[in-house]
Amino acid sequence: MATPSFSFGSTLVLCVIFASLIALTTSNSLADLCIKCQSPKFCLQVFGLNPHRNPYELTLEAINLTFTNASDTTNKIHTFLDQTNDENLQEIYNYCLNYYESSIDILRDVEDHLLKQGIFDTLSTIGAFVQEVGSSCEDRFQEIVDDVYASTLTENNNNMRNFGSIIIVAGDLLSNSTSTNK
Ligand SMILES: *[C@@H]1O[C@H](CO)[C@@H](O)[C@H](O)[C@H]1NC(C)=O
Ligand SMILES: *[C@@H]1O[C@H](CO)[C@@H](O)[C@H](O)[C@H]1NC(C)=O
Ligand SMILES: *[C@@H]1O[C@H](CO)[C@@H](O)[C@H](O)[C@H]1NC(C)=O
Repeated sequence: MATPSFSFGSTLVLCVIFASLIALTTSNSLADLCIKCQSPKFCLQVFGLNPHRNPYELTLEAINLTFTNASDTTNKIHTFLDQTNDENLQEIYNYCLNYYESSIDILRDVEDHLLKQGIFDTLSTIGAFVQEVGSSCEDRFQEIVDDVYASTLTENNNNMRNFGSIIIVAGDLLSNSTSTNK
Protein backbone atom coordinates (compact mmCIF):
# COMPACT_ATOMS: atom_id res chain seq x y z
CA MET A 1 0.00 0.00 0.00
CA ALA A 2 1.33 3.45 -0.86
CA THR A 3 1.67 5.85 2.02
CA PRO A 4 -0.18 9.11 1.45
CA SER A 5 2.27 11.97 1.11
CA PHE A 6 0.07 14.28 3.16
CA SER A 7 -0.84 13.97 6.80
CA PHE A 8 -4.35 13.06 7.79
CA GLY A 9 -4.43 15.95 10.24
CA SER A 10 -3.72 18.68 7.71
CA THR A 11 -6.10 17.12 5.21
CA LEU A 12 -8.79 17.17 7.84
CA VAL A 13 -8.14 20.83 8.57
CA LEU A 14 -8.43 21.67 4.87
CA CYS A 15 -11.65 19.68 4.60
CA VAL A 16 -13.15 21.51 7.55
CA ILE A 17 -12.21 24.86 6.01
CA PHE A 18 -13.68 24.02 2.62
CA ALA A 19 -16.77 22.48 4.15
CA SER A 20 -17.21 25.64 6.20
CA LEU A 21 -16.81 27.83 3.15
CA ILE A 22 -19.28 25.75 1.15
CA ALA A 23 -21.76 25.69 4.02
CA LEU A 24 -21.49 29.46 4.20
CA THR A 25 -21.69 30.11 0.48
CA THR A 26 -25.43 30.66 0.44
CA SER A 27 -24.83 34.35 -0.14
CA ASN A 28 -23.60 35.40 3.24
CA SER A 29 -21.21 38.21 3.88
CA LEU A 30 -18.67 36.31 5.93
CA ALA A 31 -18.06 33.81 3.12
CA ASP A 32 -17.98 36.60 0.51
CA LEU A 33 -15.37 38.35 2.62
CA CYS A 34 -13.13 35.45 3.62
CA ILE A 35 -12.99 33.77 0.22
CA LYS A 36 -11.49 36.95 -1.31
CA CYS A 37 -8.88 37.50 1.42
CA GLN A 38 -5.16 36.79 1.22
CA SER A 39 -5.73 33.90 3.63
CA PRO A 40 -9.34 32.61 3.85
CA LYS A 41 -8.22 30.35 6.68
CA PHE A 42 -6.93 33.28 8.78
CA CYS A 43 -10.12 35.22 8.02
CA LEU A 44 -12.42 32.40 9.17
CA GLN A 45 -10.32 31.84 12.28
CA VAL A 46 -10.40 35.44 13.45
CA PHE A 47 -14.12 35.90 12.80
CA GLY A 48 -15.35 32.49 13.92
CA LEU A 49 -18.09 30.79 11.97
CA ASN A 50 -21.13 32.79 13.05
CA PRO A 51 -22.41 34.00 9.66
CA HIS A 52 -25.03 36.36 11.04
CA ARG A 53 -23.16 39.57 10.47
CA ASN A 54 -23.70 42.16 7.80
CA PRO A 55 -20.86 43.87 5.89
CA TYR A 56 -20.92 46.87 8.24
CA GLU A 57 -20.58 44.71 11.36
CA LEU A 58 -17.82 42.65 9.76
CA THR A 59 -15.88 45.76 8.80
CA LEU A 60 -16.20 47.22 12.29
CA GLU A 61 -15.11 43.95 13.80
CA ALA A 62 -12.12 43.74 11.44
CA ILE A 63 -11.07 47.24 12.48
CA ASN A 64 -11.47 46.37 16.16
CA LEU A 65 -9.54 43.13 15.87
CA THR A 66 -6.71 44.83 13.98
CA PHE A 67 -6.60 47.64 16.55
CA THR A 68 -6.38 45.18 19.45
CA ASN A 69 -3.78 43.11 17.67
CA ALA A 70 -1.59 46.08 16.71
CA SER A 71 -1.82 47.46 20.27
CA ASP A 72 -0.71 44.13 21.65
CA THR A 73 2.25 44.05 19.25
CA THR A 74 3.20 47.59 20.25
CA ASN A 75 3.46 46.47 23.87
CA LYS A 76 5.57 43.52 22.78
CA ILE A 77 7.97 45.76 20.84
CA HIS A 78 8.32 48.06 23.87
CA THR A 79 9.31 45.04 25.94
CA PHE A 80 11.87 43.91 23.35
CA LEU A 81 13.25 47.44 23.16
CA ASP A 82 13.75 47.51 26.93
CA GLN A 83 15.56 44.21 26.83
CA THR A 84 18.22 44.92 24.23
CA ASN A 85 21.41 46.97 24.21
CA ASP A 86 22.07 46.27 20.55
CA GLU A 87 21.90 49.57 18.68
CA ASN A 88 20.82 47.98 15.42
CA LEU A 89 17.97 46.16 17.12
CA GLN A 90 16.97 49.34 18.90
CA GLU A 91 16.83 51.10 15.55
CA ILE A 92 14.71 48.30 14.06
CA TYR A 93 12.31 48.26 17.01
CA ASN A 94 11.88 52.03 16.96
CA TYR A 95 11.20 51.89 13.23
CA CYS A 96 8.55 49.19 13.75
CA LEU A 97 7.09 51.02 16.73
CA ASN A 98 6.55 54.14 14.61
CA TYR A 99 4.69 52.13 12.02
CA TYR A 100 2.56 50.20 14.50
CA GLU A 101 1.68 53.33 16.47
CA SER A 102 0.66 55.15 13.28
CA SER A 103 -1.70 52.33 12.39
CA ILE A 104 -3.24 52.40 15.86
CA ASP A 105 -3.86 56.16 15.57
CA ILE A 106 -5.57 55.64 12.22
CA LEU A 107 -7.65 52.63 13.29
CA ARG A 108 -8.85 54.39 16.44
CA ASP A 109 -10.68 57.00 14.35
CA VAL A 110 -12.09 54.80 11.60
CA GLU A 111 -15.46 54.09 13.23
CA ASP A 112 -16.33 57.70 14.05
CA HIS A 113 -14.69 59.50 11.16
CA LEU A 114 -15.39 57.12 8.31
CA LEU A 115 -17.83 54.29 9.01
CA LYS A 116 -20.48 56.35 10.80
CA GLN A 117 -20.24 58.96 8.01
CA GLY A 118 -20.75 56.31 5.35
CA ILE A 119 -17.28 56.88 3.90
CA PHE A 120 -16.10 53.45 2.83
CA ASP A 121 -13.73 53.93 -0.09
CA THR A 122 -10.86 55.02 2.19
CA LEU A 123 -10.84 51.55 3.76
CA SER A 124 -8.73 50.22 0.88
CA THR A 125 -6.03 52.80 1.67
CA ILE A 126 -6.18 51.97 5.37
CA GLY A 127 -5.99 48.24 4.69
CA ALA A 128 -3.02 48.81 2.40
CA PHE A 129 -1.29 50.80 5.13
CA VAL A 130 -1.91 48.03 7.68
CA GLN A 131 -0.27 45.59 5.24
CA GLU A 132 2.62 48.01 4.78
CA VAL A 133 3.18 48.09 8.55
CA GLY A 134 3.72 44.32 8.52
CA SER A 135 5.90 44.29 5.41
CA SER A 136 8.05 47.28 6.31
CA CYS A 137 8.72 46.11 9.86
CA GLU A 138 9.54 42.60 8.68
CA ASP A 139 11.87 43.87 5.92
CA ARG A 140 13.68 46.19 8.33
CA PHE A 141 15.37 43.22 10.00
CA GLN A 142 17.14 42.45 6.70
CA GLU A 143 18.16 46.02 5.95
CA ILE A 144 20.94 46.39 8.49
CA VAL A 145 24.19 46.73 6.56
CA ASP A 146 26.95 44.22 7.42
CA ASP A 147 24.77 42.22 9.74
CA VAL A 148 21.92 39.73 9.66
CA TYR A 149 19.08 39.79 12.11
CA ALA A 150 16.35 37.19 12.42
CA SER A 151 12.98 38.86 12.78
CA THR A 152 11.43 38.43 16.20
CA LEU A 153 8.12 39.82 14.95
CA THR A 154 7.35 37.61 11.95
CA GLU A 155 4.07 36.26 13.31
CA ASN A 156 2.85 39.71 14.34
CA ASN A 157 3.84 41.17 10.98
CA ASN A 158 2.05 38.37 9.14
CA ASN A 159 -1.05 39.08 11.21
CA MET A 160 -0.92 42.69 10.02
CA ARG A 161 -0.61 41.63 6.39
CA ASN A 162 -3.63 39.36 6.79
CA PHE A 163 -5.68 41.91 8.73
CA GLY A 164 -4.89 44.53 6.08
CA SER A 165 -6.20 42.23 3.39
CA ILE A 166 -9.40 41.66 5.38
CA ILE A 167 -9.94 45.42 5.77
CA ILE A 168 -9.46 46.01 2.03
CA VAL A 169 -11.96 43.30 1.06
CA ALA A 170 -14.41 44.29 3.83
CA GLY A 171 -14.38 47.88 2.56
CA ASP A 172 -15.03 46.65 -0.96
CA LEU A 173 -17.88 44.44 0.21
CA LEU A 174 -19.36 47.30 2.21
CA SER A 175 -19.16 49.72 -0.72
CA ASN A 176 -20.82 47.15 -2.97
CA SER A 177 -23.57 46.37 -0.49
CA THR A 178 -24.49 50.02 -0.04
CA SER A 179 -24.02 51.20 -3.62
CA THR A 180 -27.33 52.23 -5.18
CA ASN A 181 -26.55 51.24 -8.76
CA LYS A 182 -25.58 47.66 -7.89
C1 LIG B 1 -15.72 47.96 18.09
O1 LIG B 1 -15.22 48.91 19.00
C2 LIG B 1 -16.07 50.02 19.18
C3 LIG B 1 -15.34 51.04 20.05
O2 LIG B 1 -14.63 50.42 21.09
C4 LIG B 1 -17.38 49.55 19.82
O3 LIG B 1 -18.25 50.64 19.94
C5 LIG B 1 -18.02 48.52 18.90
O4 LIG B 1 -19.15 47.97 19.52
C6 LIG B 1 -17.04 47.41 18.59
N1 LIG B 1 -17.67 46.58 17.58
C7 LIG B 1 -17.47 45.30 17.47
C8 LIG B 1 -18.19 44.61 16.34
O5 LIG B 1 -16.73 44.66 18.19
C1 LIG C 1 -3.76 38.66 17.01
O1 LIG C 1 -4.26 37.86 15.94
C2 LIG C 1 -3.76 36.53 15.94
C3 LIG C 1 -4.35 35.84 14.73
O2 LIG C 1 -5.74 35.77 14.81
C4 LIG C 1 -4.12 35.84 17.23
O3 LIG C 1 -3.54 34.54 17.23
C5 LIG C 1 -3.63 36.64 18.42
O4 LIG C 1 -4.09 36.04 19.61
C6 LIG C 1 -4.16 38.05 18.33
N1 LIG C 1 -3.69 38.82 19.45
C7 LIG C 1 -4.52 39.58 20.16
C8 LIG C 1 -3.93 40.30 21.32
O5 LIG C 1 -5.71 39.70 19.87
C1 LIG D 1 -17.52 44.56 -5.60
O1 LIG D 1 -18.04 44.83 -6.90
C2 LIG D 1 -17.06 44.75 -7.92
C3 LIG D 1 -17.73 45.18 -9.22
O2 LIG D 1 -18.96 44.52 -9.41
C4 LIG D 1 -16.52 43.32 -7.98
O3 LIG D 1 -15.54 43.22 -8.98
C5 LIG D 1 -15.90 42.96 -6.62
O4 LIG D 1 -15.48 41.62 -6.64
C6 LIG D 1 -16.93 43.17 -5.53
N1 LIG D 1 -16.25 42.94 -4.26
C7 LIG D 1 -16.68 42.07 -3.33
C8 LIG D 1 -15.86 41.97 -2.09
O5 LIG D 1 -17.68 41.38 -3.47
